[in-house]
Amino acid sequence: MKADQPLAHLGGLTAAEFLRDYWQKKPLLVRNAFPELAYRLSPEDLMELAAEESVESRLILEKGKTPWEVRQGPFTAKTFKQLPKSHWTLLVQAVDHYLPALADYLDHFAFIPNWRIDDIMISFAPEGGSVGPHFDQYDVFLIQGIGNRRWQLGQHCDEHTPRIQGTRLRIIDGFDAGFDEIVNPGDLLYVPPCLAHYGVAQNDCTTYSIGFRAPPLAHLLERVVDVALEHAGSKQLYADPDLKPASAAGALDDTVLQALRQKLFSLLDDPEILKQAIAAFLSEAKYEDYEPEGDVQEAGDIMPALEQGAVLRRDPASRFVYTVNNGQPDLLYVNGQEVAFPPALASLVGLLADHRRLAHEALLPWQDNAQALSWLAEQLALGYWFLDQDE
Ligand code: SIN
Ligand code: CO
Repeated sequence: MKADQPLAHLGGLTAAEFLRDYWQKKPLLVRNAFPELAYRLSPEDLMELAAEESVESRLILEKGKTPWEVRQGPFTAKTFKQLPKSHWTLLVQAVDHYLPALADYLDHFAFIPNWRIDDIMISFAPEGGSVGPHFDQYDVFLIQGIGNRRWQLGQHCDEHTPRIQGTRLRIIDGFDAGFDEIVNPGDLLYVPPCLAHYGVAQNDCTTYSIGFRAPPLAHLLERVVDVALEHAGSKQLYADPDLKPASAAGALDDTVLQALRQKLFSLLDDPEILKQAIAAFLSEAKYEDYEPEGDVQEAGDIMPALEQGAVLRRDPASRFVYTVNNGQPDLLYVNGQEVAFPPALASLVGLLADHRRLAHEALLPWQDNAQALSWLAEQLALGYWFLDQDE
C-alpha cells in the first residue's frame, strides 16, 4: 500500500493524508466504504459465536436489572429468546481470530502497524440498542453492517468527564452531541480516542469495530526494566570508591543523586535490550493464554498444496513483530516469544510476517529452497501459519 495512493475506503484520502489530518485528531465519515463487508456475518452467526465458551462476548441491556446492565457470555439461544424486543446489544470480541477471511479486511489498514491493532469486534442490536454515550481510549473504525445506526459524536473527554454511576460502562453524564448522522450498510466512521460517541440502532443492525490499542507506557517501562535486570543481574550494588567528605551527614548530596541517575539510566540505555524487550512485549497475543494449534506438514508438501489452490495464512489470533537491521528483518517475535530463523531467510520472514495471506505465486521464489521450506514446516507445526485449503 503506497502512502500517496488515494484510498476509496478513506473517501479518496491517501494514507499519509488520513494519518496527518484525522488519525488521533478528528472523526471521518466515509459513505459506502466497504459495501461487501456489510453482509459478511448475520446476527445468527454472531449469536452462534457468542455461544462458544472460548469467545469473549457481552450483552448490554439499557433497561436491564439495573440501568445499562452488562452480562458476560457465553449465551445460549434461550438467553436471546428471553431478551426484550429492543434496547439491547450483543458485543462479540476478536471475531477476526475465528474468521480469517474477515481478518483479511484489516489489510485495508496496513498503513498502521499490525501491533497497533486490537481486534474486530462485532455488535448486533435490535431497534434502540446501544452501549450508551461513551468514550474509548483507543482509535476505532466503525463499519456499518446490516441495518442503520444513528451516530452522534460529542465532546472530547478525559478521566474528569462526569459519568453515570451504577453501571460498569463508562457512560457520559451530559453528552454534548454535535455530529448527527444515520449510517447505512458499508459506511465507515473513524472515531479518534476520547471522543464521545453514541450509536443507536434504528432497526436490526450489525456494526464492525476495527479497534486499535496503544500500550500503556508504564507497562512497557516495567518490561524494559525486567529485561534490563535479567541482563545486568539484580545484585549490582551502588559503589563509591571516589567518595568525597559529606557536606552534612544527613543530606542526600546532589552529586550522589546525579551519579545514581546516570547508573540507573545506563542500565536501560542499551539499544539491543530495548529493542528485544519492546518487540517481545508488542508481539504478545490479545489473549494471554492463547496457544495456536499446529498442524504437522512435510516440508515437501507445502508447495504442492499451494499449487493446488491452498493459501498460506498467518494465524489471525497471534501477533507478529519483527525488528529490522540494515533493511532486513533480524529478530522475529510471535506471541511474546522470539522465533529463531536462519539469516538467509530474512526476506522470507518479512514476507510472511507482513502478509495475512499468501498464495502460491508469492512463494515461488522459495520453492526449491529446502532450508526455507523446512523452517516453514516448523512454523506450521507451531501453528503460527497454516495452509488454508478452503480457498
Ligand atoms: C457498538 O457497536 O454498538 C458500539 C461500538 C462503540 O461504540 O465503540
Ligand atoms: Co465506543
